[in-house]
Amino acid sequence: MTMFARKVAIITGGSSGIGRATAIAFAKQGAKVVVASRRIQESQETVELIRNVGGEAFFVKTDVSQEADVKTMVEKTIEIYGRLDYGFNNAGIDQIPTPLPEQTEETFDQLININLKGVWLAMKYEIPQMLKTGGGAIVNTASIGGLIGFPGIPIYIASKHAVLGLTKAAAIEYAKSGIRINAISPGTVITDLFERSLGKDPQMKEQIMAMHPIGRAGTPEEIASAVLWLCSEGAGFTIGQSLTVDGGFTVQ
Ligand SMILES: NC(=O)c1ccc[n+]([C@@H]2O[C@H](COP(=O)([O-])OP(=O)(O)OC[C@H]3O[C@@H](n4cnc5c(N)ncnc54)[C@H](O)[C@@H]3O)[C@@H](O)[C@H]2O)c1
Repeated sequence: MTMFARKVAIITGGSSGIGRATAIAFAKQGAKVVVASRRIQESQETVELIRNVGGEAFFVKTDVSQEADVKTMVEKTIEIYGRLDYGFNNAGIDQIPTPLPEQTEETFDQLININLKGVWLAMKYEIPQMLKTGGGAIVNTASIGGLIGFPGIPIYIASKHAVLGLTKAAAIEYAKSGIRINAISPGTVITDLFERSLGKDPQMKEQIMAMHPIGRAGTPEEIASAVLWLCSEGAGFTIGQSLTVDGGFTVQ
């Protein structure tokens, strides 16, 4: 069980949900994990969970929308573990469904700064370190909201569509440098983020579940296993893609 032995992975948004599950999955496969997130207590819990399964991890407090924080996140990784092999750029926030004319400039800036600029900043500092060791793999978290639209959350949808554009362009740029860059596009996954937004309304929650042909939402662990595959040697020819993990939502 050491697919990633001696490798180092940064996970942004590792304090809960998909990020936490992926951090633990990487650690179980032997990777040293850097948990980069804003919330101290929850991030430290992720580090504890990793240590409980015999893994190695540390937490670096990071707001992905702040360039200085992201720079420090990568610098600390190199200082402590000496290298960087994988970046899971996953931190993100949701949008509370609201009619478009009622949405504020503040909401727009916050969503774009975290969901889009945060991914760009992470790649900006991860790529130079990966180049030093001959390569690596990056997975950016988009969403099925990066592939199709939903009413009431246009800024979230735009931010996730943009993550796919960023992923494609960066992937081509580094394809010959040994860095494979892809995106993951989850369907509904029951995490804090979902419960805080669309999941708040029981009727909408039921409607959303029914829209997944599989008849249920996904688990953070099901997304984590797809992220690990994208980082594995088995995905060696997979570049610039969005891997959709959505219980069939977008194929009906
Ligand atoms: N849950 C779903 O249904 C779903 C579906 C598709 C895509 N996603 C995406 O998956 C990713 C993870 O979401 P989740 O569902 O695990 O929710 P979550 O709320 O449990 O996790 C989001 C993480 O990002 C962190 N975060 C938020 N803003 C940050 C910032 N500025 N700097 C650093 N960290 C920050 C949070 O602290 C948390 O750890 C998000 O990008 C989200 O858009 C989720």
